[in-house]
Amino acid sequence: MGAMTLIHTELCDIVGIKHPILQGGMGPYKTEALATAVTNAGALGVISCIGMAATLIPEAAPLDAARLFGSDPPAVILQKSIESVTKKTRTSGGVFGVNVPVAAEFVLASKMFVEQTIESCKADSDTERSLRVVVTSAGNPKPWSVLKKEGFQWIHVAGCVKHAKKAEAAGADVIVASGHEGGAHVSWDPVHSTVLVPAVAKAVKTPVVGAGGFCDGASLAAALCLGAVGIQMGTRFIATKESDFEPMWKQAVVEREERQTLVGRGLFGPMRFLRNRRAEEIVEQTLEDLPNFYLGEPLDSNEKILELERTGFVDLMDEKEDTALMFGGEVAGRIQNIPTTEELINNIIAEASDVIKTLPEKVLK
Ligand SMILES: Cc1cc2nc3c(=O)[nH]c(=O)nc-3n(C[C@H](O)[C@H](O)[C@H](O)COP(=O)(O)O)c2cc1C
Repeated sequence: MGAMTLIHTELCDIVGIKHPILQGGMGPYKTEALATAVTNAGALGVISCIGMAATLIPEAAPLDAARLFGSDPPAVILQKSIESVTKKTRTSGGVFGVNVPVAAEFVLASKMFVEQTIESCKADSDTERSLRVVVTSAGNPKPWSVLKKEGFQWIHVAGCVKHAKKAEAAGADVIVASGHEGGAHVSWDPVHSTVLVPAVAKAVKTPVVGAGGFCDGASLAAALCLGAVGIQMGTRFIATKESDFEPMWKQAVVEREERQTLVGRGLFGPMRFLRNRRAEEIVEQTLEDLPNFYLGEPLDSNEKILELERTGFVDLMDEKEDTALMFGGEVAGRIQNIPTTEELINNIIAEASDVIKTLPEKVLK
């Protein structure tokens, strides 16, 4: 096989990666194994913090953190995760990041995770070289410009043009425009990637990465045509050999068709679930309470949903397919295999370069 034609964009230079692909942060797992594999394959691997904080915030109490993470305090879980990814990516020379959700309910935990990330970089020169990025999501970007002063490349995830402009004003280096077809947290407003990505790319000067619905070379090429400098993928990375997700969850991604996801009320707002009985129960409950949810009723008044989530996480651990809580995007309908992360990324790049090369010949007359 000849040398692969690379796709090189501004994102590669800003972040220091070979391929313009970001792995989305994905709770409830640490995504330590996935982050390692993605980093070694030349894209940006990302450690996910949200599940680590489960013991700290009442909203996340449904998750049995001890079962997933052992008994270490959250900052120590992150510290060890950073150490592990640093060690396992040293030879490849790849770079990785940490995803810190900054939702209002989560903000004390967010501060702790950011402080730990800074500390881990100061403590080890290999970490300082390879942990280059912090990705903040699900909240107000303003307080987090401190990340730039600490020398990180700061990426913020936004679900609409208004929030993207806020991230730009706060000084983010890259903005991820996250469309409604994506897995897990989405906004109530159903603005999908084909509308959102070009709208954000037009509204800000900061480089934009598309998220939501991307899984292959054709969709990477499409994102570049829409004005993005790369893609962030969540659901596609679940179904890889190295990913930390339960085998049942990987299989569910492969089996679901494009209509088999549902949006219901989740921990910090609406979330997109892979369709099963538990997702249907959550949607039924969401619809019953919709007027209150929509108007921002506090989460603790919705005991039934919390109970469905709590037992959904337990059933996930017990591999009960019908009642397990599993998030995932519409793009599950386009995912039919479980490759290694390296195969996946190389195929995406090869396909995208082929699409880009052959398109002019096909359509320019
Ligand atoms: C299982 C799952 C968990 C996720 N958890 C997080 C998270 O903790 N933080 C975050 O910023 N985004 C989270 N996301 C969103 C992803 O980072 C990514 O933006 C999204 O999956 C992109 O859409 P796609 O699923 O169509 O690829 C999650 C997505 C999935 C599927």
